[in-house]
Amino acid sequence: MNIDEVNHQVKGWLKEARENIIHAFGNPLSVETKSSRVDLVTNMDKQTEKFLVNKIREFDPNVKILGEEGFGDDITNLDGTVWIVDPIDGTMNFVKQKDHFAIMIGIYENGIGKLGFIMDVMNDVLYSGGPDNGVFANENKLEKPENTSLKDGLLGCSSPMLMMDYNHLQTIVKHSSGARVYGSAGIEFIHILRGQEIGYISHLKPWDFAAGKILAEALGITVKTIDGSELDMLQSANVLIATENAQEDILKLLNSF
Ligand code: IPD
Ligand code: CA
Ligand code: CA
Repeated sequence: MNIDEVNHQVKGWLKEARENIIHAFGNPLSVETKSSRVDLVTNMDKQTEKFLVNKIREFDPNVKILGEEGFGDDITNLDGTVWIVDPIDGTMNFVKQKDHFAIMIGIYENGIGKLGFIMDVMNDVLYSGGPDNGVFANENKLEKPENTSLKDGLLGCSSPMLMMDYNHLQTIVKHSSGARVYGSAGIEFIHILRGQEIGYISHLKPWDFAAGKILAEALGITVKTIDGSELDMLQSANVLIATENAQEDILKLLNSF
């Protein structure tokens, strides 16, 4: 894969996808539910995924695509080049707030993360990069965030997991500087990349963490399951994204129960 060429192409598509979403704010939105009352999909999620899948297929017909809304391929393994697409991450925010949502793409070669993209649509900032080229916010290269411990940082949380105290999340939060709940995995990843949060705990699907995992790991942040195991890129999991020190603090706490 030619990293520079792919980077250049994807940035152009995300710019266009962002503009299409913003123009669509003037039109009525069609909103449907999926697995539950609070799991939404809109015409713009579908339109954006179709747009990106078409661009990817035109660019390279040999890659496989895993898309949240089902316009990609049926993927059973990570052999070859796999693009993982979340067309709108934070659809509830998109519908209710018209803010705090992201477009995300992660590109893997034989299971190894190569390039990640998180477009913060309303702030018009694209977080992009990977292990080979570093991580950028638009054109600005990001430094590794400080390796802050749990007690000294804010922890991003999934609201259902926090309310239900899954994985002792309330106790973990009590040992931190406080909880933050943004309602979009992409927006949480951005806060971690920028050093504004020390971690994030949520039940996530592959398209929720594919892009962020590549960007976060390139900056020395750990992205694993809540018990410290490697993530399976084709499975949902309770995911812990954290600085190395915060991950150690959280695993120690969880082992004490
Ligand atoms: C959701 C958001 C949310 C997370 C959910 C995801 P979607 O993505 O990232 O923060 O808690 O698990 O499904 O459905 O808006 O793309
Ligand atoms: Ca998502
Ligand atoms: Ca989505």
